[in-house]
Amino acid sequence: MKVTRKEIEKNSVCLVQGRIAKPDLNRVEIGDQRFMAKDVRRRPFFLRWTLSLWLIQQEWKIYCRLKGVRGIPQPIERIDRFAFVMEYIQGRAVGRDEKLSPSFFSNLETILKEVHARGVVHLDLRHKGNILISEDGSPFLIDFNSGFLFREGGLLRRYLFPLLRWVDYGGFLKLKERASPSSMTPEEISFLKRFNRLRKLWIFN
Ligand SMILES: Nc1ncnc2c1ncn2[C@@H]1O[C@H](COP(=O)(O)OP(=O)(O)O)[C@@H](O)[C@H]1O
Ligand SMILES: [Mg+2]
Repeated sequence: MKVTRKEIEKNSVCLVQGRIAKPDLNRVEIGDQRFMAKDVRRRPFFLRWTLSLWLIQQEWKIYCRLKGVRGIPQPIERIDRFAFVMEYIQGRAVGRDEKLSPSFFSNLETILKEVHARGVVHLDLRHKGNILISEDGSPFLIDFNSGFLFREGGLLRRYLFPLLRWVDYGGFLKLKERASPSSMTPEEISFLKRFNRLRKLWIFN
């Protein structure tokens, strides 16, 4: 598929307008196909050429690294340096106070493990808007805007990656505790307790 910015703009509906440096989310319909576009073209000049550009590039790289992982929208195309298009997931975000089944969480955990196995951390799992429930009820993990991609064999991969994986796992358990409390194992409960204690020392709270 080769789509141009013009085509995208002609056929899209803005679902979320990005604030500050963040991308706009546009639902694109071309023929009978639906896509999701993330675009920072409309950010103020300075941000567009600095932080926004870096973030959108980073997110695209992450989606490409995660290509083929079940439960992650597939990357489709980089439109230009400011935007990319990915698979549209028919479904909805996890709602506030929504209760979810234990199998939903075991599937989500499998997704998270696969993400980590590819050297990627998400870092925004506590935010329920980043977890979608597809039409058949299965989880999708989206929004790698604050994620990070590690190079194989680097020092950061060796020392920082384990810490950030741990942060992701804590975020995952936090969500699970809220949405499926009865399925928490004793190990998970004690992990979360320790996690919450240590998180108070964490700068990105
Ligand atoms: N691939 C997708 N398929 C369907 N809906 C999506 C997709 N990506 C994002 N959305 C919708 O847009 C919302 C915001 O997307 P997200 O990537 O989390 O952007 P932000 O960086 O603004 O948080 C999500 O909560 C979801 O409803
Ligand atoms: Mg989000």
